[in-house]
Amino acid sequence: MVAPNLSGLSADYLESRMNAFLQPFSQSAHAIDHMWPISAGTDAAAKRALAEYFAGQMAPSIKLNSSSPGKSLYEQGVPPCRSCHGAQAEGSGDAPRLAGQRQEYLEAQLWAFKLHARVHGPMNFRGASFSTADIDAVAGYLAGR
Ligand code: HEC
Repeated sequence: MVAPNLSGLSADYLESRMNAFLQPFSQSAHAIDHMWPISAGTDAAAKRALAEYFAGQMAPSIKLNSSSPGKSLYEQGVPPCRSCHGAQAEGSGDAPRLAGQRQEYLEAQLWAFKLHARVHGPMNFRGASFSTADIDAVAGYLAGR
């Protein structure tokens, strides 16, 4: 199973993701399969409390590898990933932390954005041009490889 690491993500992002699983046409079948029943069975106050619990945990400690082939993909492009996700992929505003996320999860999300199985305008736009090699490289960079 390709589940994300939740520690250290922002509470607002975690809460918005939990609510997103209730909109099945905007999320991948894999995400809906696992998360719809959990989201539907959790009320708003409990979602917020869970989001704050995970946001309060330490984010994965990781140093991005500056010689990774995925670094230039992360830093270049229109618009560059780092303009939203931060120079060290630490996350900023609506754009979540990516540094230290599991590589398989990152790859699955980039495929889901590319194929519009997970709907989010900027990510669908940016993901559309990615090749398999690009996805492997940028996910590897963010996972610290
Ligand atoms: C214009 C701003 C913007 C740019 C540029 C951008 N992203 Fe994102 N990205 C976002 C936002 C906002 C989200 C949260 C989407 C949501 O709420 O579903 C996101 C989500 C993601 C996710 C899912 C993370 C998770 O925890 O599920 C991945 C992976 C990702 N972006 C990778 C990238 C990569 C790699 C690039 C560059 C190729 C990139 N993003 C460029 C704004 C951006």
